[in-house]
Amino acid sequence: QVVLWNAETLKQKAVLEEHSLLITDVRFGPSIPRIATSSFDKTVRVWDVDNQDDTVHTFTGHSASVMSVDFHPNKDDLICSCDGNGEIRLWSISSGRAVRNFKGGSSQLRFQPRHGGFLAAASENVVSILDVETQACVRIFEGHTEHVDSLCWSPTGDYVVSTSEDTVKVWSVNSGNENCVQELNSTGSKFHACAFHPKYPSLLIIGCYQSLELWDMVENRSMTVAAHDGLISALASSSSGLVASVSHDKHVKLWK
Ligand SMILES: *[C@@H]1O[C@H](CO)[C@@H](O)[C@H](O)[C@H]1NC(C)=O
Ligand SMILES: *[C@@H]1O[C@H](CO)[C@@H](O)[C@H](O)[C@H]1NC(C)=O
Repeated sequence: QVVLWNAETLKQKAVLEEHSLLITDVRFGPSIPRIATSSFDKTVRVWDVDNQDDTVHTFTGHSASVMSVDFHPNKDDLICSCDGNGEIRLWSISSGRAVRNFKGGSSQLRFQPRHGGFLAAASENVVSILDVETQACVRIFEGHTEHVDSLCWSPTGDYVVSTSEDTVKVWSVNSGNENCVQELNSTGSKFHACAFHPKYPSLLIIGCYQSLELWDMVENRSMTVAAHDGLISALASSSSGLVASVSHDKHVKLWK
């Protein structure tokens, strides 16, 4: 079940109830008011949010739980998703069909911001950078010893950040494989989700078990903020300056 809230008034706007099993990822459309969700029920759904009849597009074809979904930053008709078997699908929203189908990621994927030329995809301990046009793998970032739980791009699209329980790594996309430019080791908190601060691009927000870690990557300093009663499973940063955190404690919190 997806509940849509108005962030200004904090009133509930709509309840989108359709997936039959757990939802694994949720994303806002970059220009058209839409939401995409992926689920253990092997489907992806896209909702037209402002449409009175709540049009829902359902995408079927994945053979395993769909673990992640994302909208292309400027091609309004394009979304991608990946499943537990490592299969990635690019879908046309209007036709409801998969336009490409290839291997490369199983736990999370994110389009590069702005141009959308690349796709970052995580599978076990590895992060791959794939060319969206050719589906070729152009970079492989190896170095995590634990499973990668989440990915985020810097707003300029030059760096990808990957988190696993024990460490956060920052990779430069423009300078070859194995280029981990910075890392933060956990001193006890279990890292899980990540997002760049909407106003300070050198500040990375890491969602942990019960807390948020704020890491200033330029000063190389970090601080811990108590935030939830459970694991912070996802973070999102909005252009209006808000950060949303979602936790296994069943709360969504908005920060600024
Ligand atoms: C993080 O831990 C790894 C493995 O213990 C170590 O090799 C690395 O130097 C550490 N990095 C930092 C920035 O402390
Ligand atoms: C960042 O700080 C940590 C400890 O606070 C230290 O272990 C690490 O080496 C520093 N990294 C850099 C690149 O200065």
